[in-house]
Amino acid sequence: MSPDLLTRLRRETPSCETLLHFNNAGAALMPDPVFSVMTGYLEAERTMGGYEAEAALAPQLDRFYTGFAGLLGVQAAEIAYAESATRAWDSVFYALPWAEGDEVIIHASDYGSNTLSVMQMQARRGIVIRECPSDGSGQIDVGALDAMISARTRLISLSHVPTQGGMVNPAEQVGRIARAHGVLFLLDACQSLGQIDVRVPDIGCDFLSGTGRKFLRGPRGSGVLYVGAHVLDRLDPPFIDGHSAKVAGTGFEWEPGARRFEAFEQNFAGKAALARAVDYAMEIGLPVLEARIAALAAELRVALADVPGVTVRDQGTRRAGIVTFTVEGLPSGSIVAGLKAQGINVSLSYARWAPTDFAARGLPEMVRASVHAYNSGEEVTRFVSAVARLQATGVLG
Ligand SMILES: Cc1ncc(COP(=O)(O)O)c(C=O)c1O
Repeated sequence: MSPDLLTRLRRETPSCETLLHFNNAGAALMPDPVFSVMTGYLEAERTMGGYEAEAALAPQLDRFYTGFAGLLGVQAAEIAYAESATRAWDSVFYALPWAEGDEVIIHASDYGSNTLSVMQMQARRGIVIRECPSDGSGQIDVGALDAMISARTRLISLSHVPTQGGMVNPAEQVGRIARAHGVLFLLDACQSLGQIDVRVPDIGCDFLSGTGRKFLRGPRGSGVLYVGAHVLDRLDPPFIDGHSAKVAGTGFEWEPGARRFEAFEQNFAGKAALARAVDYAMEIGLPVLEARIAALAAELRVALADVPGVTVRDQGTRRAGIVTFTVEGLPSGSIVAGLKAQGINVSLSYARWAPTDFAARGLPEMVRASVHAYNSGEEVTRFVSAVARLQATGVLG
């Protein structure tokens, strides 16, 4: 990335001056152009009224669909607004016609809430949960996946970039296997959107869920769902209202397209702002963002690994912007608190959010440091020095 671009990104992220924010996998700092759309939209609601603002700013809201369609390489009618990645994911999972004995294939790296949903469906309908093993690097083992698909397999569910580590699962290979077997593929792209050039036609997933607040740098309480037009009519959306469907004769019919998964009431300011965030990312260029974030994270891993007592926990052959680590003898929670006291944001990664992986790998709680393109090499150096100081002095000492 050019020095000029970094200067621009930091200028448009004024808190960079006072805060070292390595919690982009939690929620990234919103750039000024996105913040302006958000506050501008709220101002319009305040001065005009909510419904009137919706009508007046319809082009900004429509951009949500065309923007995501451009980002993902799909049709605007295949995009729906969601309040979060989890609700987007749920909208598809609970819409599938699950019957007793149907199989869902999951992986240890899956997000904890997704695991809970498959467990709930197991209790509710008697579906069978089958966990695909990892390869030697920790990624989903695509050979094993290919071999384990049966006539009862209905769905492959995979987190592209897991919440608890920087690896990037080989989604394209999973997509090819899913297609070859005629099995549906639901990709949780919550941590990959905005930091990886995620193109649905390259991946071949049928559904994709994502959130606004992480690497896309949009607002909290916003997310996105992609549902391929080719599978739309195989789903029975779990919720219905006068926006997603209409009465027809003595029955009802769904609205065309993925918007049948939306509710009438939405966070419209958030939707407009997320649309702007998508444009912002595309203006920079996803390949540029991807290269920059991966390079900064790689730099961070190498530097952290040199600190005595630090173990970097990331797996996978391909890695992105999330860096997880532990420090021998120091609870990860105290490291997070010790860094926070110095104006450094990271988060604590613990079993609740990826229970299968934590159990399988016997993982302790970890510190999760996640970088974005607006972070600098100087921040990486400062961060590693802060960790080294905590390690040397003991956080509590
Ligand atoms: C991989 C992954 N999937 C899903 C989610 C859930 O996203 P949301 O909180 O927007 O529902 C997260 C959140 O951290 C995540 O890391």
